[in-house]
Amino acid sequence: MKAVGIIGTGMYVPERILTNHDLEKMVDTNDEWIVTRTGIRERHIAAENQATSDLAHEAAVRALESAKLKPEDVELIIVATITPDMFFPSTACILQDRLGARRAAAFDLSAACSGFIYSLATAVSMLKSGMYRNALVVGAECLSRITDYTDRNTCILFGDGAGAVVLGEVPEGRGFLSFELGADGSGGPLLNIAGGGSRLPASADTVESKAHYIRMAGNEVFKFAVRIMGSAAEEALRKAGIDKKDVDLLVPHQANIRIIQAALGRLELPEEKCMINLDRYGNASAASIPIALAEAVEQGRVREGDCLVLVGFGGGLTWGASVLIW
Ligand code: UT7
Repeated sequence: MKAVGIIGTGMYVPERILTNHDLEKMVDTNDEWIVTRTGIRERHIAAENQATSDLAHEAAVRALESAKLKPEDVELIIVATITPDMFFPSTACILQDRLGARRAAAFDLSAACSGFIYSLATAVSMLKSGMYRNALVVGAECLSRITDYTDRNTCILFGDGAGAVVLGEVPEGRGFLSFELGADGSGGPLLNIAGGGSRLPASADTVESKAHYIRMAGNEVFKFAVRIMGSAAEEALRKAGIDKKDVDLLVPHQANIRIIQAALGRLELPEEKCMINLDRYGNASAASIPIALAEAVEQGRVREGDCLVLVGFGGGLTWGASVLIW
């Protein structure tokens, strides 16, 4: 089995910024509460004419440029998202057309905030099996479109954006060493959008009852996240045969600084060994890990041979972690 790794990264966030002070004017909240409870200061919001595929396209173009791969040579596109442009066709197909990646197979993957790790695991397996030689994996979200801006429990958290990576063959000893994926469907009701699917199709009633917005039992999700982030990362490290003291950079899902700090505590890692950018972007669901990774690369925080751990959790409930050598 050949070694498969990341050969290009890219990210994009829309221009418009929504600060905590802006939110103070919209709901009963304040900057101090949001910063101390979440670590978030601002988030980016898509323009009216931007949909998820537009954000994905910007990030994908940058990732392909950094990998020096032409769109027509891309063989597989996976987009992780819970905010597709529409039910179908998939956002990956819309992106494929936009890029001119005519040879690529394309599909979306739904695993909420764990979607990017699930997508990486899927693409890496397909590349290792010899089915494809390269893949474009994108996490992209327009969460502002499914956020209730009268609900202070959720609207302070979410932001829009996209991150992308290109996967390809890398020298032996580098690339992805392990994945740990998991799900607990019994926790589904803790974080969901109830309306608009086959269970509760869109109607005047579902609009009236705000069933098309994210609903979340924040506290329950918080407890789950604190438990699972550390244990998923530890399990991925165990599978990779790597000691936690040898981790150079943790790239966690950017949901809440307190959740990240709990994971760092469990892994006995100092904050310098962690990529944190949720203060500027908030929680961008499936896009948060690839945005953080692309920014870490841009900032020169990832060097050849470094050991990286990616870890996330989210709706489903789901979780995922991966260990790779850069
Ligand atoms: O990607 C996965 C998606 N989800 C998550 O990662 C979310 C995980 N959960 C969290 O990050 C946290 O649970 C929250 C940030 C959502 C909430 O923080 P918390 O420390 O768990 O607060 P809480 O829900 O226990 O609420 C504490 C108090 C409550 O008031 P009372 O009942 O104590 O009087 C809330 O009503 O804070 C109140 N509150 C707020 N106050 C000001 C809730 N939201 C706000 C707000 N501004 N925005």
